[in-house]
Amino acid sequence: MTDSQFTPRVFSGIQPSGGLTLGNYLGAMKRFVDMQSADFETIYCMVDLHAITTWQNPADLRHNTRELCAGFIAAGIDPEQSVLFNQSQVPEHAQLAWIFNCVARMGWMQRMTQWKDKAGKNQQNASLGLFAYPALMAADILTYHATHVPVGDDQKQHLELTRDIAIKFNHDFGVDFFPVIEPVIEGAATRVMSLRDGSKKMSKSDPSDMSRINMTDDADTIAKKIRKAKTDPDALPSEIDGLDDRPEARNLVNVYAALCEQTPQQVLAEVGGKQFGEFKPMLAELAVTKLAPISSEMARLMNDQAEIDRILARGADRARAIAAPIVQQTYEIVGMVGAKNGA
Ligand code: TRP
Repeated sequence: MTDSQFTPRVFSGIQPSGGLTLGNYLGAMKRFVDMQSADFETIYCMVDLHAITTWQNPADLRHNTRELCAGFIAAGIDPEQSVLFNQSQVPEHAQLAWIFNCVARMGWMQRMTQWKDKAGKNQQNASLGLFAYPALMAADILTYHATHVPVGDDQKQHLELTRDIAIKFNHDFGVDFFPVIEPVIEGAATRVMSLRDGSKKMSKSDPSDMSRINMTDDADTIAKKIRKAKTDPDALPSEIDGLDDRPEARNLVNVYAALCEQTPQQVLAEVGGKQFGEFKPMLAELAVTKLAPISSEMARLMNDQAEIDRILARGADRARAIAAPIVQQTYEIVGMVGAKNGA
């Protein structure tokens, strides 16, 4: 099977589990925005069904889903150009996930490192949904016949599983139906690390709020967090090699580079030789220039919840128009009898 029989189509998802950081912005959303302008049809999903594989307070889930939608739009996703919606409004995701539960093997799922990490020692008490999570993710992708899936490094294994499911389905039913997808893994330069520890990923679940920049932080907070970010006493190097064994310095340079859309080497050519006392205010100013408009736009959008809900409903209609025929065809292939099948 060749990929060329499928329209180049990007699909990606983010869980609405609360707290968007600079890491989500530079590592995911900004890339999603860039792909929007390329020759792709782009589909971006707030994966609320994935979020509930661990407990979510219902009121928080609603708030976080809308805030994530506001974040996507404020970051530059155009809801006309891209299909932007929340997963639960398109029942085809859950329908196809069931079929894939019957294709995927227990052994495949048990090998998933995210399952092992998240369930921890207490697997008996984890939800069945957490175990089946990757089959739902495969359904998200394949119900659109997506060809390109931008994700972080931690999701690579789930994409390999998605390929395995597509291959086994095609093989078991003797069809060329699901595409074997291309992972688009984020590079190290866009992986944003904690401001307190350059070896840890910036995370909304870190107990220290000083370790991260939230997309909802105001200008003063952003500037303060950068001023207090951990660094080392040396001046900045003018070559990339000079960042070896200096994870905090490397992280701040990477963040600067990503925000101003240059390579880290280009940044060092400009700032090499400067002390952090001089570089940090530059970074703070750049971060505020780029992020403050996003956080204020998010706040503005969050004031009009009805508008957000309208955008999500319209996105869901457009998504369904693509997903429903594919699930219908899947049902036919599998042998489900139904009035619409005609098989
Ligand atoms: N599992 C992904 C994450 O936690 C989110 C996700 C769900 C996703 N479905 C997807 C990403 C489909 C890409 C494609 O980051």
